[in-house]
Amino acid sequence: MLLNRAEMSFDWQGARFDPERDRELLAFIFSQFLYGEVTGVQVGHWLRRAPDLESAIFLARQATEEMAHVRSFLEIFRQIGARPEAPHRVVRFLATDFMGGSFAEHTCLEMALGEGFVLMVMYALIDTIDHAGVVRILEVAAPQEERHVAFGEEHTARAALASAAARDHLLGLSLVSLLSLAKIAPQVRRLAPNHPVIGRMPEFLAATVRSSELRLQRMGLLSGSLADLSPGRRSWLILGAMARRNLRRFLPQETQPLTGNYLSDPMVQRLLDAGRS
Ligand SMILES: [Fe+2]
Ligand SMILES: [Fe+2]
Repeated sequence: MLLNRAEMSFDWQGARFDPERDRELLAFIFSQFLYGEVTGVQVGHWLRRAPDLESAIFLARQATEEMAHVRSFLEIFRQIGARPEAPHRVVRFLATDFMGGSFAEHTCLEMALGEGFVLMVMYALIDTIDHAGVVRILEVAAPQEERHVAFGEEHTARAALASAAARDHLLGLSLVSLLSLAKIAPQVRRLAPNHPVIGRMPEFLAATVRSSELRLQRMGLLSGSLADLSPGRRSWLILGAMARRNLRRFLPQETQPLTGNYLSDPMVQRLLDAGRS
C-alpha cells in the first residue's frame, strides 16, 4: 500500500468499546461492514471488465475473500450476541449507488479510497474493541483488505499517469466521495455523543480525510493539498466528473472482455515464454 498502518491509524488515547455495554453500537458498526462485504458480489461485474489476465486473477481471488469476510462478520455478530440491521444510506450510496462506471473509477473510488476507509475503521476497531475473538477475526481480514487497496492504488496511479484528463476526472469523483463521507461522522456521533470512541467521530473523520489526501497525492491525483484547491476549481472538478459520468452511459464500452484479446495478454505471453532463454 502507498500508506502504512501508522498513517492510517488514529490515536484513541485508550478509549474502548465494551462488547456488553456497547452491543447496540457495535451491531450498527458491524452492519455497515457486513453490507460492504456483501457488495463483494459486484467484483463479478469488474471481473468481466478486467483489462488483463493478471487483474482478472486478482479480482477472482478478491471475490472469494470478500465472500469469506461475509462469513467472518456473521461470526462476529454471533460472538457479540447481536443481529445485523440494514446499512446506513451513506454507506449504501458509497458502496453501491456511487460504484465506478469504468475500471479506473472502480479501482479509485471503491478499492483505493473506499476500501481504504474500510481499512481505517478496521484498524480503529482492532485498537478499541475489548474482545479477543473479534480482534482476531479483524486481524485476519485486514491484510486481505490491504491488498485490495494496493491493487486499487496501483491501477488508479496508472490511469492518472496515462492522462491529465483522467487524473482530473478521478480527483473530481474522489472529492464527491469525501463529501459523502463527511455526512456520516456527525450522524454516527449523534448515536452516542458521550461514548469515549463514538464521541470522537469528528476527529476520526478528519484523520480519515488526511489519510485519503495522502493517498490521492501518492497516487498522483492531487499535487498540492486539498485545502489548496480553490472553491472554483473544486466545483469545476466535481461538476465535470459528474457530467462525464452521466454522459458515459451513452458511449460504447471502453474495454473489451479478456475473451476477446487474451492471446496478446502480457501475462499469457510471459507464462508461455517462461524458461525460454
Ligand atoms: Fe472485505
Ligand atoms: Fe476488500
